[in-house]
Amino acid sequence: MIDRINLIKTEVDSNQITSSEGLEQFRIKYLSKKGLLSQLFEDFKQVPNEHKKQLGQQVNVLKQYVTNLYESYKTQLDFTSTKESGQDFSMPAEPIKLGSRHPISIIRREMYDIFSRIGFTVAEGPEIEDDWHVFSGLNFPEEHPARDMQDTFFISKGPDILLRTHTSSVQVRVMENNQPPIRQIFPGRVFRNEAISARSHCIFHQVEGLYIDTNVSFADLKQTLLYFSKELFGPKTEIRLRPSFFPFTEPSAEMDVSCTICGGKGCTVCKYTGYLEILGCGMIDPAVLEASNIDSTKYTGFAFGMGIERIAMLKYQVKDIRYFFENDIRFLSQFK
Ligand code: PHE
Repeated sequence: MIDRINLIKTEVDSNQITSSEGLEQFRIKYLSKKGLLSQLFEDFKQVPNEHKKQLGQQVNVLKQYVTNLYESYKTQLDFTSTKESGQDFSMPAEPIKLGSRHPISIIRREMYDIFSRIGFTVAEGPEIEDDWHVFSGLNFPEEHPARDMQDTFFISKGPDILLRTHTSSVQVRVMENNQPPIRQIFPGRVFRNEAISARSHCIFHQVEGLYIDTNVSFADLKQTLLYFSKELFGPKTEIRLRPSFFPFTEPSAEMDVSCTICGGKGCTVCKYTGYLEILGCGMIDPAVLEASNIDSTKYTGFAFGMGIERIAMLKYQVKDIRYFFENDIRFLSQFK
C-alpha cells in the first residue's frame, strides 16, 4: 500500500497540465468516484487494524496533496484563459469617483471657519417650530404680515405649529437657555410659502449670528460684518449699511457688499449700483432680551442673518436658485 501511495505521488508530480481537457482527465483519473484515490480508500478498509493509523494518515495527506494540486492548476488555467479572452487582471482598477461637496455646504463650512476665528461657535435649532420662537418671542406683533398664510407654512393652527421662516428662531431658543456672553452662529434650512422661480424658492438656507455681552455696540456689529465680508469675498470688499426694519432689532440695517463682479464700477449683476445686498442685521431690541430673561440694563447684543443660496449665487455666478435643489450631477460636480 505504501508503494502505491508513493507511486501515485510520483505520477501526479510528473504530470504537466496545460489545457482544461488535460485537467479534466487528471480529475477523472485521480479524484473521481472511480478514480485511483477512491480505490485506495476502498482498499484501505482491508488493512489490518494495527497499520490503520499510520497508513490512514498517509492516504489522507495524499488526497489533500492531489486536491490542492488540482485546484492550483484550475486557477492557473482560469487566469490564462480569461487573459486570452481579452481580460487582464493585472490592469489597475477603475478609479472610484468620490463625488464633491454641495456648493451650499462649501459656503456654509467657509462661514464656520471665518466666524470660528473670531470666537463664534455653532448651534442648531428645530425646523418645525411654534409661534413663540419664530414670531412672538421676536417681537412680531399679532397682526404682522410675516405671519400671514401667504408666507408661512403652517402645520397646525391654535396652537400654531409651523415651519420656521428664518433662523432667528434659534436666537430665542439660545437666549432662553443661556446667559451672556453668547457668541454663536446658527445655520439651517428655512421655509417660505413663495412661488418657485429663478430668484426665490420655498426652501433655502440661512446662517444667523448672535453676540450678546456687556458693552456690545453697533461698531462691533459693523466691524464683525466687515471682517466677515473681506474674508468671504476678498480683501478689497467694502460694505455699506442701509437703515432698515426688523421687529426684533433696533436699530436695524441691511448690508450690501461691493459688487463681487465689477468691484463697484457697475455691471449687470449689481444692476449698475456697484453693491449687492446680502444680509439683515441690527442691535437686539431690549424687549426681545427681556422676553428671554436676559437683563437688558446689563447686556446688549447684535444679530445678523443671511441666505446661503444668495451668497453662493453671487460667489459662483449661479443665475438660477433652483440648481441648488435639483441635484443635477453636471451642476454639482463643478464645485470642489
Ligand atoms: N431673520 C431676518 C430675515 O430672515 C434676518 C435678520 C436676522 C435680521 C438677524 C436682523 C437680525 O430676513
